[in-house]
Amino acid sequence: MSSYIIKGGNKLEGKVKISGSKNSSLPIIAASILNAGKTTLYNVPNIQDTQKMYEILRTLGATVEKKNNKVIIDTSKIDKYEIPDLLMHKMRSSVILVGALVGRYHKATFSYPGGCDIGSRPIDLHLKAFEKLGITTSQNYGNIMCTCDKIKGEKINLDFPSVGATENAILASVLSEGTTTITNAAQEPEISDLQNFLNKMGAKIKGAGTTEIQIEGVKKLKDVSYNIMPDRIEAGTFLCMAGMTNGNVELQNVNPNHIIPIITKLEEAGCKIEVEKSTIKIIGPKKLKAIDIKTMPYPGFPTDMQSIFGAMLVTAKGTSVIIENIFENRFKIMQELNKMGARITIEGKSAVIRGVRKIYGATVNATDLRGGAALVAAGLIARGITIATNIEFVLRGYEQFDKKLQSLGANIEISKEI
Ligand code: EPZ
Repeated sequence: MSSYIIKGGNKLEGKVKISGSKNSSLPIIAASILNAGKTTLYNVPNIQDTQKMYEILRTLGATVEKKNNKVIIDTSKIDKYEIPDLLMHKMRSSVILVGALVGRYHKATFSYPGGCDIGSRPIDLHLKAFEKLGITTSQNYGNIMCTCDKIKGEKINLDFPSVGATENAILASVLSEGTTTITNAAQEPEISDLQNFLNKMGAKIKGAGTTEIQIEGVKKLKDVSYNIMPDRIEAGTFLCMAGMTNGNVELQNVNPNHIIPIITKLEEAGCKIEVEKSTIKIIGPKKLKAIDIKTMPYPGFPTDMQSIFGAMLVTAKGTSVIIENIFENRFKIMQELNKMGARITIEGKSAVIRGVRKIYGATVNATDLRGGAALVAAGLIARGITIATNIEFVLRGYEQFDKKLQSLGANIEISKEI
């Protein structure tokens, strides 16, 4: 496992280009299966999670050619419907392939994706949506088989606005007979990106971005090229790191409309922010003010920003309270921040962060993607050297993270541990 070595104390200053969205790329790469032909994608982040998706597609019989952030996927020769166990476990979000496989082939076999460090990550809502569409799901020895003769459009109401379940229900309905209506759907921008991509392919979907999405089944789709939207969580991550280092940074290739709750909270904490069409400028204050945060489904404050805001607030003036309403185990990283001198106590769904004058470099361990980014952020303001281990988690979701930080003046290196 590798580590980031960070020497704290530098302000972040300059310009940084935000990459394409991980959480939009993954479902769109999966959706390419629905068309037996070629899909060309631009602005795809070159990260471990997209690499894993390509590996799975190749295992199923597709060809994938990647040149930097351009990817050409040819799914015409796919001849398998089973997602390999090992790859399923390496990346739980590969469950998104099931909706596309069963949508096109009326069958799919995969193993339980299993939980991860932020929660149990059940898929009951995905399976309930499939069953509603006439897809039989059976399980044995940890494997799940999905089969059906045909998929008939239906009304699906989600108990919770799950992003993955909404995406899987859409993918399974695109080539169905009739119309599917999903209510209590997730409203995340990545769902709108998926709808835009699928409609460009010839699907008939409307309502993404609202709680009700309608999918009118079509018979065939066509080859398409598409540009992935910017990554709103990467944008939020760099805004926080600039805000907490008394920095002065301009983010390029962002969509400010996707991160209004993040901008609002950063301004509340004392940052000066200027928004233009696809750029955001931020100036961090000498000292941040404590704020309160509640994570909610979109358009509320995103759970993916919770750990990074936690790191940002450890030296703010006053006491901050963060309430995590989405994942039941997403505070693990706070104990690592306490190793650096932070004063965070966890009470159930709340993290109480008492601002301290300074924090100190330490050896700390990443346990999930956004928690890893939070440790790097804390290292930027800590006195001395921070060693953040298990950074493979961070490499899953942030493209060129260390290089982008170095270009903004951070003192960060990657060390290959033996
Ligand atoms: C997506 O995960 C994102 N991942 C997550 O980002 C993000 O945190 C999450 O949405 C919420 O915004 C991708 O898009 C690849 P959910 P997903 O289904 O779809 C419960 C990151 O760091 N639930 O909206 O798995 C679940 O336990 C990652 O980039 C069920 O109960 O999230 C959780 O409490 C982390 N049953 C809540 O819903 C189900 O069948 C939200 O989960 C499905 C979900």
